[in-house]
Amino acid sequence: MESYNTKIISYSDEDISAAAEYIKNGELVAFPTETVYGLGGDALNPDSSKKIYKAKGRPSDNPLIVHLASFSDAENYVKEIPDTAQRLMDTFSPGPITAVLPKKDIIPYETSGGLDTVGIRVPVNEIARKFISKCGTPIAAPSANLSGKPSPTTAKHVYNDLKGKIPAIIDGGACMVGVESTVVCFEDDKVKILRPGFITGEDMTNAGFEVLYARGITEKLDDNEKALSPGMKYKHYAPKAEITLIDSDEEKFVKFANEIKSEDTFFLVSDEYKEKLSEENTHNIITYGSDDKEMAKELFDKLRLLDALGAKKVYAQIPPKSGVGLAVYNRLIRAAAFRVKVL
Ligand code: TXA
Ligand code: MG
Repeated sequence: MESYNTKIISYSDEDISAAAEYIKNGELVAFPTETVYGLGGDALNPDSSKKIYKAKGRPSDNPLIVHLASFSDAENYVKEIPDTAQRLMDTFSPGPITAVLPKKDIIPYETSGGLDTVGIRVPVNEIARKFISKCGTPIAAPSANLSGKPSPTTAKHVYNDLKGKIPAIIDGGACMVGVESTVVCFEDDKVKILRPGFITGEDMTNAGFEVLYARGITEKLDDNEKALSPGMKYKHYAPKAEITLIDSDEEKFVKFANEIKSEDTFFLVSDEYKEKLSEENTHNIITYGSDDKEMAKELFDKLRLLDALGAKKVYAQIPPKSGVGLAVYNRLIRAAAFRVKVL
């Protein structure tokens, strides 16, 4: 593969124009969105999409999300927009939500991972929108991490994973949401959540939508079971350490943790647990916020930090499964390869 001198660039008009030139020439550029950084390429150019899979080391049957500057452009790329889909996107988009719809032929199978559908997303992040508009073409973009690693929420994360593999990364600071978009498809007039995110099932129900949840969000799919969202079947978000989720109340967790004495065992917990743990032991405690939204924002950064600190084993407090907590749980249970210890 060609080797690049990867540049971290700003979001000035000049730098965005330079980034758009790369895209027009079939090259890849990583860019910030409100969720995580994306690895962007021209969604209409099959060779660009092939480059995306190659740079990430991603299985080619895992489809890429197509990013637009406005949902009104979607009719150029999808065969039909059911009324429910239109209403859902009118309500929550631009924003961290992706609608899976039947694709038009103009979207190559290299981009859709061989599927006849395509995920359409309109980011609310201004830098992302400016970049997509400047490119003048829809942008295929998975998260800009190496396949299997935690998604990147800063330009530095992207650089650590993809340096030498792409020409440029637009630095837009830390992502506000921190976990990837909610992915949905449509069944009759119902919305089916394939991957939970910042826009929650509760948000959709409150806005008057009927909501279903796909299998595989909180449980492991059977080996021969087909994932509605192909990404769900792959090992994901995994740092080098072996993570185990601890299903217990606070008291039991604290007792369990305080009995462990090991240099390379770490604990991933919410802020509230920290004081309780640190009084009795000097263990390696990593906190990631105090509510579901903060945990979502910090999760991937802290998983990468655990690697940097040389953690071998991590015991993580089980996150709440409500609100954005469901997205945190969905990512963490995969990072833990579904290992849960009940105390
Ligand atoms: O927030 C996000 O969605 C980020 C930013 C960059 O926009 N992108 C992202 O892309 O997370 P990626 O490729 O890492 O994850 C896309 C997920 C995968 O699990 C994939 O299987 C699912 O969306 N997906 C994409 N297109 C689909 C389709 N046509 N049918 C079912 N699932 C689809
Ligand atoms: Mg990803």
